Amino acid sequence: MPDTLLRLDTLEPLRARVAAWRREGERIVLVPTMGALHAGHLALVAHARAIGQRVIASIFVNPTQFGPTEDFSRYPRDTEGDLALLAGAGADAAWLPTVEIMYPADFATRIEPGPAAEGLCGRFRPGHFSGVATVVAKLLNQVGPDVALFGEKDFQQLQVIRSVVRDLDIPVAIEGVPTLREADGLALSSRNRYLAPAERATAPRLHAVLARIAEGLATGAEAGPLVADGIAELEAAGFGPVQYLEVRDAETLAPVARVAREARVIAAAYLGGTRLIDNVAALPG
Ligand code: PAF
Repeated sequence: MPDTLLRLDTLEPLRARVAAWRREGERIVLVPTMGALHAGHLALVAHARAIGQRVIASIFVNPTQFGPTEDFSRYPRDTEGDLALLAGAGADAAWLPTVEIMYPADFATRIEPGPAAEGLCGRFRPGHFSGVATVVAKLLNQVGPDVALFGEKDFQQLQVIRSVVRDLDIPVAIEGVPTLREADGLALSSRNRYLAPAERATAPRLHAVLARIAEGLATGAEAGPLVADGIAELEAAGFGPVQYLEVRDAETLAPVARVAREARVIAAAYLGGTRLIDNVAALPG
């Protein structure tokens, strides 16, 4: 485990460092983040350490994946705190590109991902997955890792990234890492810090509802009534609007009526001013 974290602010030293590690035959794992790190991110770093010799975490709050009314300007930023956490978690390097490095004045290219980006969050956040796909492709090209890790909490994002990497022949393995949860079931998220105490007390209901629907699906029940009950329960608990609560195939993200192979019960809902997303696996019984 390294005792110092290398801070990389420009592309040239990043590429030189990665090239040197590669000459040594080391397997390089990238953990892309937007900072405001929590235990979920540190679990990604721990997994990266377990599967590779070198771990790079990127920190970049990507403006192109936020809509005009979303929380880009107030998104939590704490670079020094994040660097201390990455050092403690055993990352080798932090890649900290600026907006000017990522999007110079003459930047003009965007990736438009295919069907994986349609529906679910794609319906409520127009342009979001194009911004994610573009920045992730850039991060992969800048770092050139063997493996890149993404949390399963953003399940649609993970599938979008898989499809982009496949379609553009980017030479990297994409791995999803299971969601880390608080003891009461709430999925860890940088946005949980927006929740007022009463909202924080209500927030775990989202996971509870999704888990109950997954249990119902495992008995062979139809998705429609389970989902309708789940939405009603969330609204009664104080969530609203519930943007979507759906059952989708885990691989294709196609809608599922009854579970015959792994599916995901997946939702996005506001609690006060905070938009929460979560998903759980639903397996046939
Ligand atoms: O999941 C995130 O933190 C971001 O969407 C990502 C993948 C780092 C791209 O900005």
